[in-house]
Amino acid sequence: MVALARSEGHDLVHGADLAPALVGVDTIVDVTGIQTLSRHRSRHFFETVAGNLHRAGTAAGVKHLVALSIVGIDGVDASYYGGKLAHERAVERGPLPHTILRAAQFHEFTEQTLERGKVGPVSVVPAARVRPIAAAEVADRLVTLAEGEPIGRARDLTGPRDELLIDMTRALLNARGIRRTTIEMRLPGSFGRAMSSGRLRGHANADRGTITFADWLAANA
Ligand SMILES: NC(=O)c1ccc[n+]([C@@H]2O[C@H](COP(=O)([O-])OP(=O)(O)OC[C@H]3O[C@@H](n4cnc5c(N)ncnc54)[C@H](OP(=O)(O)O)[C@@H]3O)[C@@H](O)[C@H]2O)c1
Repeated sequence: MVALARSEGHDLVHGADLAPALVGVDTIVDVTGIQTLSRHRSRHFFETVAGNLHRAGTAAGVKHLVALSIVGIDGVDASYYGGKLAHERAVERGPLPHTILRAAQFHEFTEQTLERGKVGPVSVVPAARVRPIAAAEVADRLVTLAEGEPIGRARDLTGPRDELLIDMTRALLNARGIRRTTIEMRLPGSFGRAMSSGRLRGHANADRGTITFADWLAANA
């Protein structure tokens, strides 16, 4: 296995040719990400990474590109999600045979939004109805898909129950004994609506993980 990340000496956006690092690799699993609310930056990042992986993977003899996307983003061509839709299209364009898994927000997303929303002693948390899943369960599914044949779009994967991000955030702070004021805020535009409306929970017929946020919190407090 080879890990391609900046911390491992490989920059998938600005780096040199990646083909030498991919020699002997059968399958690439693309779980790269960028923290931005800019549609332009998100698109540029994901399209560049997918294009570079296709090019270098083809040169190195890779057989399968597996990419991770997000449930419920159809029609939300805005902000970060606009970049994820572009990511999917860039993966589909080939030439490597591909599999795309759409997953719900991770339980770990709570920690990410808490960090990003810090304004002095207050944390601003986006209003969001989600169906979160443990990242470990998503990783298990990615491994299964990587070991199989390319199938295009895989079955969506969401968590076992619906949650509100603000409740998850407060439970996280409480479990860790951190006193911090949290304010729920409805973000503007289609990006904000997608979060607050519950659209990002995906379809009811998606596969479901089994680890609830409470389970995850008990193990990660
Ligand atoms: N978080 C969620 O709730 C969630 C839910 C569903 C799907 N997803 C998707 O899952 C993926 C990962 O999300 P995440 O939240 O886990 O992101 P993350 O914690 O920010 O991790 C991003 C990863 O990408 C690597 N990376 C960033 N820029 C890079 C570059 N220029 N070259 C090489 N590697 C680079 C980072 O490593 P270095 O910093 O070392 O480069 C890191 O390992 C994203 O595609 C996201 O859309 C996330």
